[in-house]
Amino acid sequence: MRLLVTGAAGFIGSHFVRHRVRAGDNVIALDALTYAGTETNLADVRDRITFVHADIADAEQVLRDHRVDVIVNFAAESHNSLAILDPGRFFRTNVLGTQALLEAARQVGVERFHHISRCEVYGDLALDAEQAFTEDSPYRPRTPYNASKAGSDHAVRAYYETFGLPITITNCANNYGSHQFPEKVLPLFTTNALDELGLPASLKQEVPDRPGHDRRYLLDSTKIRRELGWEPLVEFDAGVRETVRWYANNRTWWEPLRDRSPVTEGAWHAG
Ligand SMILES: NC(=O)c1ccc[n+]([C@@H]2O[C@H](COP(=O)([O-])OP(=O)(O)OC[C@H]3O[C@@H](n4cnc5c(N)ncnc54)[C@H](O)[C@@H]3O)[C@@H](O)[C@H]2O)c1
Repeated sequence: MRLLVTGAAGFIGSHFVRHRVRAGDNVIALDALTYAGTETNLADVRDRITFVHADIADAEQVLRDHRVDVIVNFAAESHNSLAILDPGRFFRTNVLGTQALLEAARQVGVERFHHISRCEVYGDLALDAEQAFTEDSPYRPRTPYNASKAGSDHAVRAYYETFGLPITITNCANNYGSHQFPEKVLPLFTTNALDELGLPASLKQEVPDRPGHDRRYLLDSTKIRRELGWEPLVEFDAGVRETVRWYANNRTWWEPLRDRSPVTEGAWHAG
């Protein structure tokens, strides 16, 4: 299969590229290389893919140069904290960028446009709620990031309903694992702990919670289990242990990236 994977130099996109290359697909990996993307994430498959440094908003020529069967759209601004400080860039990439990519897909024709969304478009749940989100839960985003992801979902659906573009959307929960940018909670805590271990507790800093912070998410995975036979291959405890070990063994990956992060937690209060 010929795939265009966008956001391919980011955390999940680069894992997906590695997975599909191993499965024998022909992958065009596209990424704008924002602060969150790095080509080193693709180093081990670099000679087996075509890498294109481009914005999803400018993908039409890329699609004309490299005919593909399927587009998998991971490209996004993805950090809730940054979205509080600079919401405009989230709507530009996540809504307008996705719409431009959809339009390019419509112009050249593809077998499928798969869009990666997230469960935060459904809002949050009470800590003691019995309820879990399903594919039919109403959209109720609470932050600029989540509203921009919800907007992108609506654009994707509209291209199916109005133009018949074949689309699928997945709304997954939080991911964790190797190569996640060190601004996100698990790598942030892990890398800080790796630097702090054995130091005085006074180094710990409490930051005010982010405005609009969602308290809890829970996804009902019945549909994907029933229709695709999906099940987790790695239990959470083992996965977290493996992830922490990866960060401990790969300082050369995360130390330079940490300095590129454009936001310090709690900065919204200072402003
Ligand atoms: N990480 C999670 O827990 C999680 C959970 C659910 C859904 N998602 C979604 O999965 C996707 C990937 O998330 P991630 O955690 O890998 O994010 P990430 O920030 O690690 O990667 C995003 C990538 O997109 C690229 N990018 C940003 N703007 C672009 C643009 N305009 N054009 C082309 N490339 C651009 C960045 O350079 C980066 O490489 C996102 O759509 C995100 O909303 C993430």
